[in-house]
Parts: sequence; structure tokens; C-alpha cells
Amino acid sequence: MIYLVAGARPNFMKIAPIIRAIQKHQNELSYKLIHTDQHYDKAMSQVFFEELGIPEPDFHLGCGGGTHAVQTAKIMVEFEKVCVAERPDCLLVVGDVNSTLACSIVSKKLGIRVAHVEAGLRSGDMSMPEEVNRIVTDSISDWFFVTEPSGEANLLAEGKPRENVFHVGHVMVDNLYYQMARLDAVADKLETTALKRKLGKYGVVTLHRPATVDNPVLLKSVCQVLDECAETLPLVFPVHPRTRNSLNRMDFKFSEYVHLIEPQSYMAFLNLWKDAQLVLTDSGGLQEETTAAGVSCLTLRDNTERPITVEQGTNTVVGTDCDNIRSHFRRVLASETQGAKPELWDGQSSDRIVQHLIRLI
Ligand code: UD1
Repeated sequence: MIYLVAGARPNFMKIAPIIRAIQKHQNELSYKLIHTDQHYDKAMSQVFFEELGIPEPDFHLGCGGGTHAVQTAKIMVEFEKVCVAERPDCLLVVGDVNSTLACSIVSKKLGIRVAHVEAGLRSGDMSMPEEVNRIVTDSISDWFFVTEPSGEANLLAEGKPRENVFHVGHVMVDNLYYQMARLDAVADKLETTALKRKLGKYGVVTLHRPATVDNPVLLKSVCQVLDECAETLPLVFPVHPRTRNSLNRMDFKFSEYVHLIEPQSYMAFLNLWKDAQLVLTDSGGLQEETTAAGVSCLTLRDNTERPITVEQGTNTVVGTDCDNIRSHFRRVLASETQGAKPELWDGQSSDRIVQHLIRLI
């Protein structure tokens, strides 16, 4: 039996297709789902479980909020109790959030093998909490499932045994294709459909990284350039709770062309960004989803741990300099989007992972 951990919003769309793939092999592999409750708001968690068809977790750890240390420590304490009681054969973690890190450490110390999905990504930027989480998780994982060649190269350069590194493609893309196929059936009921009709052409913005939103000077300058861009193309900006807090503290008001909305469900957000002229984001996952769907993306960061999205996909890393954002915004609007789909981003990655796990465990 394996444990699957889901903690924060970007985990849920990765866990959903893995559960679907395990359910096809019920005789060979069983699982239990642990929700750490790192994300606890209904809009950040429960809505995703319902919409993505994720079963009710077997365990809720109730570890939301707090500083990184408090959050990580609380998850470790609670997760250890569950692990000791049941001793799964393996722990599967996805991505790079604090829940990924906390549960991997606990498992490894209990002698439970760790499989890391989305392993090997590196931004080279140790000021990102996710980079620390990625490096520590990979340093103690037993099996590495990677999404793109850079992940494999990074792990091999760090001395991981080649036989434990598996380039399988991207489970988040499995989920994207699965949900895209269902979107037409539900689109009429989604609030974003009405907004799309009203706006016609539009761009989508998401910002939530501490490096972008916790620095008021930087956040204000980014907001100013977004406001300016929105005069050419209206922008829709679903606001993460962290960003909402920062905006509330800041003396800045967007013009009527920037539509601030609440965090969206997966389907409502997909419905929005898939038809956008472009996406401006500091997210990791959205850089990849836009590449998979052929939508232009400007990444408002100085680096990316997902270089395939730039080399082959539709992503451009533009940083947070206003002139740079402005000129790339204009360039994208004036040109046709060109991008290719990375190898193995074919909707079958979860099945590959499950086949490997059945053999390995
Ligand atoms: C986390 C992940 C990040 C991911 C992001 C997506 C880490 C280190 N970071 O960042 O990689 O891209 O999720 O959303 O794990 N909050 C709420 N309600 C919630 C969740 C959070 O109000 O449901 C508040 C928290 O109380 C906290 C802030 O938002 O004040 C940040 O939450 P936290 O889970 O620490 O990190 P995120 O910024 O969401």
C-alpha cells in the first residue's frame, strides 16, 4: 500500500490523475490519501477535490497556516503518527510545497521509501522556498519521476543512480487533457464564461510568490505596468490569499481594465486562461500548462526551473522589470504563438508511474 500526499493547491491536479491510474490497477496497487491541509480555504482546497474527482482523504492532518517552520513541523508531527500506525510500503509526493518536504523527511527516517513526482527541477535560486523543498526532497528520495530532460540531467549531475530516475512526462498535463475534454459540458455554468463573453479578448494574471508579492515596492511597480498593459488588453487577475493580503496593505488601485476576482476553481480557471491572448504569471505549473495548451506565457520571474517551456514551449521568462514586461507584452500581442509539446506530455504519465511503482514496490 502506498501513501499519496496532497497539501496545497498545486498538488491536487497532480494527485487526481495518479489516483485515476491506480484505480485501474486496484488488484496490484492500493493507496491511501493524506491531506495535510496546508491549504485549507474551501476555494483553495475543497473545491478542487470536488471538481477534480479526488476521493475524500483517508487522513486530514489539519496543518494549515503558520510560518514555514511551524507549518513544516506541524505536518511532520502529525504525519509521523499516521505513518507509524500503518507503515505503508512507499510514500509518493508531488511537486515542491512544504507538505512535500515535511512528509518525505518523516518517511525516510522511518525507513519508508519515497517516490518523488516532478523530481529534478532546479531554478538555481535558493531564495525560493520551493527550490529548498525540491533539493531536500530529492536528496532523500528513492525514486525520481521527471517531467522534462533537465530534471533527469540535474539528478544525474547530483549523483542519483540512473536506474532510479524515470522520465515519464507530466501528470499535471494528464489532468489538463482530461479536464479539457470535460470543459464544454460544464462551461455554461462557470462564472468565468460570462466574464469571457463580456471582455472578448483578454489576458490572465496570477501572482503569488513571496518574492513578487511580499515586497511592496516591487509589487507596486508590477501592478503599475499591468495597469498600463490593461489599457491595450483587459486583464483578469484571480487573487491568491497571500497576494490579497499584500494588495490590501498597499496604496494602489487598479483601473477598471484589471478585473480582480477570487481564486478560481480548476475548471473555471482553465476556462479562462485557455482562451486568453496571453498569461502573465509567477507560477510554476501555469508555465507548463500554457505550453501544453499552446497559450503564450510571460513568466514574471528571473529564472525558471522548467526550461523546456522556454526551449520548446510558449513561455518567455521576462523578470519583473517594467520595460521588459511591457516590451514582451507588446511582442506577444503582435505575433502568432509558436510552441511545441514536450516529449511524453501526452496524457499517459500517471500510467507510466503506476507501472513503475507496481514493479518497484
Ligand atoms: C504554496 C506553495 C507554493 C505554491 C502555492 C500555490 C510552499 C512553500 N509554497 O504557497 O509553492 O505555488 O502554495 O498556491 O509550500 N492561506 C489562506 N488560505 C489557504 C491557504 C493559504 O489564507 O487556503 C494563507 C496562509 O495562511 C498564509 C498564506 O496564505 O498566510 C500562504 O500560504 P502557504 O501555504 O504558506 O503558502 P503559499 O503562498 O500558498
